[in-house]
Amino acid sequence: MFSSYGEPEELRLAEAPVPSPGPGQVLLRVHAAGVNPVDWKIRAGLLKDFFPVSLPHVLGVEAAGVVVAVGEGVTARSVGDEVFGPVSGAYAEYALAGADRLGAKPADLDWGAASGLHSSAETAYRTLELLKVTAGDTLLVHGAAGSVGGLVVQFAVAAGARVVATASEANHDYLRELGAVPVSYGEGVFDRIREAAPDGVDAALDAVGGAVAGSVELLGGPERVVSIVDPVEAESAGARFTGGGDADYTAQALERALALHAAGTLRLPIRATFPLAEAAEAHRLSARGHGRGKIVLIP
Ligand SMILES: NC(=O)c1ccc[n+]([C@@H]2O[C@H](COP(=O)([O-])OP(=O)(O)OC[C@H]3O[C@@H](n4cnc5c(N)ncnc54)[C@H](OP(=O)(O)O)[C@@H]3O)[C@@H](O)[C@H]2O)c1
Repeated sequence: MFSSYGEPEELRLAEAPVPSPGPGQVLLRVHAAGVNPVDWKIRAGLLKDFFPVSLPHVLGVEAAGVVVAVGEGVTARSVGDEVFGPVSGAYAEYALAGADRLGAKPADLDWGAASGLHSSAETAYRTLELLKVTAGDTLLVHGAAGSVGGLVVQFAVAAGARVVATASEANHDYLRELGAVPVSYGEGVFDRIREAAPDGVDAALDAVGGAVAGSVELLGGPERVVSIVDPVEAESAGARFTGGGDADYTAQALERALALHAAGTLRLPIRATFPLAEAAEAHRLSARGHGRGKIVLIP
């Protein structure tokens, strides 16, 4: 938890009473918690005007674990179920979750990957819905090696779209394995994208920041350009920003991700795993903004 906004060192281990599940909730024994960029942004105070939290605050929006208690009216989940999905205060040994929004963890999906699947899959699914990506479209993804970007590529390819995707060269083979045409970012990136997609691009996602205006110019308009990073940049280019999860999208996204897992093709690499006591180190790594896949905490 942290008691003041600030540097990663503000994160500290503390004892707290085990919470009791309210109506519709379950209590999880957390086996792994997914770390997301939003966590360090909240801790640093960057989101306090839009997303205020009461302090001290236990971070973490997703986890995988075992149900150890159920609240009133819960029928969807039982004690002993292995589950994953949206959780509040996931950086903890025990955390509460809405029973209806959790997915059943497949026995062959490890705890770390399961803990990090929900947030990125929900965001990927949501953005593809907003961009109306269908078979035959060419989709541009800025930041495709990241946790969200990687799932956007996989969902789009599975839907029959062609994907051009930006990442550093270290991640190009990974993007090819996902079915995308990789392009290096940096100076001249839009020239390289035009070469990689000579017939044009139909829709674009900025999952990094700074790529909205160039994407609007490339597409010839903002209608099918979405940012998940910067609302101000999106607004000034006339494009759309999406920032919030949605229960309907969660169910669809988990279904889609689990279908890829069942087919043996889901890729959600683990960038690094840290014990809960080293959450500060996990935040430093996340804030660097490079590398592929999820960062995971083990309580
Ligand atoms: N609005 C929402 O609903 C929502 C939801 C989830 C996440 N987000 C935001 O979306 C962003 C991505 O999240 P994430 O979890 O996917 O992050 P992540 O896993 O940390 O991935 C970041 C990725 O960005 C790539 N990258 C860095 N600079 C780049 C550049 N200039 N051009 C292209 N790629 C670049 C890195 O690849 P290399 O290693 O190849 O550099 C890395 O793979 C974060 O800002 C996060 O806060 C928003």
